[in-house]
Amino acid sequence: MTEKYWEIPHNQLALQIEKLSKIYNGKVNNIALNDISLNVPVGSIFGLLGPNGAGKSTLINIISGAVIKTSGRVCVWGLDIDKYRKQSKLAVGVVPQELNIDAFFTPKETLNFHSGMFNVPKKNWRTDELLQLMGLTDNAETYSRKLSGGMRRRLLVAKAMVHSPPIVILDEPTAGVDVELRQKLWNYFKKLNELGVTIILTTHYLEEAEFLCDHIAIINKGKIVANETKKSLLSKSNQKVIFITLTDDKITKKDKDCIKNIGNVKICKNKIEIYFDPKYTSMDRIIEIIYKTDLKILDLSTTSVSLEEVFVNLIKDN
Ligand SMILES: Nc1ncnc2c1ncn2[C@@H]1O[C@H](COP(=O)(O)OP(=O)(O)OP(=O)(O)O)[C@@H](O)[C@H]1O
Ligand SMILES: [Mg+2]
Repeated sequence: MTEKYWEIPHNQLALQIEKLSKIYNGKVNNIALNDISLNVPVGSIFGLLGPNGAGKSTLINIISGAVIKTSGRVCVWGLDIDKYRKQSKLAVGVVPQELNIDAFFTPKETLNFHSGMFNVPKKNWRTDELLQLMGLTDNAETYSRKLSGGMRRRLLVAKAMVHSPPIVILDEPTAGVDVELRQKLWNYFKKLNELGVTIILTTHYLEEAEFLCDHIAIINKGKIVANETKKSLLSKSNQKVIFITLTDDKITKKDKDCIKNIGNVKICKNKIEIYFDPKYTSMDRIIEIIYKTDLKILDLSTTSVSLEEVFVNLIKDN
């Protein structure tokens, strides 16, 4: 969808950030970004995670041209933002966290209006295509104030796409959205990505990053503490977890000591979690250990450690 307007950069990078720093108001104790380097490959869904105040919005705002960096180099779709300020801004569509929608415009009018604002020639207006892409065709003529929360968010995504940017930035796109709607929005984001749009997304929902993103960077206190593919980030923690539910909450000291031979044990009432490294503890060994105990097991399952576990450890260590 975007290729006809934007040629893919030679280095295949949608975003190239080198030694980027931002100090607000010249106060050295106010370092929002501290010497950050980051590459976002063309075509990826790139997750930007980090606790409150980590510097995510500052980074996004620098990329979209809303905040001026203190030092470093940023290239958006191969365009250095210092040399090509206007063009690099056009390469990005930002979907803000707030639902800032013109209540008295219909979705169709909103998209037409913004196409005009971006000086898109009328013959290239994509209003109908975008309404269809975001599942809003049936509501094209409805006043935006009558749209549901999910429809409004989809309209904001469509609005960010009117000038066909090859990169879309979603700032906490599903904050406060219920589970069902969140999954619908995820499908729309995936669809957009399949059409060739590189997506950069900030989120506090780790399961969202785990489901959507192929690359993930974690920022903490203005520094990048992890930056890799989701697969490699998840494999960083080689741990697995066994969840055991007992028929009652009676666990003897002998049984506790016994299961400690598997790994780190957490017990809460009749639920036991055991974190172990499959490289060192085989399933045979685990079964052998559990067999020796008097635990009355109602249910047992194992799973890989989630992104949440990796995230918490990285933030803790830094
Ligand atoms: N306009 C500003 N003036 C001064 N300091 C600012 C400004 N905007 C952000 N900061 C500071 O920069 C740091 C990074 O803030 P930023 O908004 O980028 O974090 P964030 O990762 O987006 O956090 P959140 O998850 O809460 O949205 C914080 O210490 C914040 O107080
Ligand atoms: Mg923010």
